Amino acid sequence: MNILAIESSCDETAASVVRNGREVLSNVVASQIEVHALYGGVVPEIASRAHTEAIGRVVSESLDGAGLTMKDIDAVAVTNRPGLIGALLVGVSFAKGLAYSANLPLIPVHHIRGHVAANYVFFDGKEQKLLEPPFTALVMSGGHTSLINVNAYTDFECIGATRDDAAGEAFDKVARLMGLEYPGGAKMDALARQGNDRAIDFPRAAVKDCPYDFSFSGLKTAAINYLHTASQKGEEICKEDVAASFTRAITGAVNIRLERLFESETLFRSRKLVLAGGVSANSHLRTSIASLCGKNNVEFYCPPKYLCGDNAVMIGSQAYYEYINGTSDFFDYSLNAYATADVSF
Ligand code: KG4
Ligand code: ZN
Repeated sequence: MNILAIESSCDETAASVVRNGREVLSNVVASQIEVHALYGGVVPEIASRAHTEAIGRVVSESLDGAGLTMKDIDAVAVTNRPGLIGALLVGVSFAKGLAYSANLPLIPVHHIRGHVAANYVFFDGKEQKLLEPPFTALVMSGGHTSLINVNAYTDFECIGATRDDAAGEAFDKVARLMGLEYPGGAKMDALARQGNDRAIDFPRAAVKDCPYDFSFSGLKTAAINYLHTASQKGEEICKEDVAASFTRAITGAVNIRLERLFESETLFRSRKLVLAGGVSANSHLRTSIASLCGKNNVEFYCPPKYLCGDNAVMIGSQAYYEYINGTSDFFDYSLNAYATADVSF
């Protein structure tokens, strides 16, 4: 089954053709980073406009890249939740038009479910360790930091989430204050490699009675205060040390929850941990979680770096499983977009 998938929930316009949920026939991503970098963050109206301008070309490149035409496509998939509403609507409207005109099923996909599915695909054309549910996913993106039990391909159970900021958001905010260009996460990653991760003792918050929930706003504020105080006193800061210490605080907060989870016989029977979302490209996080999993005899999966950020491959992969499990009416051309949505539905 060839699925043409579209993703436009934030600042990447992406389209891809995925066969049977696992085989990538094409992967086209048009990034808007340059436009938003001028403003230090994503400007929703500009994002919608840029999606509108790019989507036709991106979809047609994805068909060309796969060496296919619409006649070879069996279904159209699209991210319809959660995300920037104007941005989502561009992808949803385009997908609706395409599916309707070709009389094809239209498969709505939850963006976070998609991030998880990035772990199913055979990347670089190679078949690798085949991931199948059940497993636990740690999804870390610009808007989410969640621990999710994926009981089956379409059965998601959230066991912990951030109470305030997502890790990606905290990375971006601190990076911005240090004068790094948007999006700062990847730049923090590179800087942290040259710094001393014990130079600054940033706090790690726990959420009372919720062992798997996260909270990063205290850490973000502590880093902002550190930078402001230094600037008011006219002191030079070592950006590398701030990046390394901040990264260590995030990694530590994640690892403490994972260690707890690994001991739980009820919540972690699968003994498989899957990392997903833009922040999962972070080299420090990948290394430290891989090592923690190794020590605890846990199977560890994470996508290749180019499938960590937003793309349509992950949407095409999850769409296949949504389709074969019949999770909705796939001929509902009145499909809508939603800015917020629970991953369980
Ligand atoms: O999943 P994603 O591409 O978009 C959303 O769904 O939000 O995640 C974007 C987030 C941004 O906050 C970005 O700074 C962060 O992922 N990110 C990173 C790295 N690469 C991207 N954060 C830390 N280290 C990285 N290497
Ligand atoms: Zn994302």
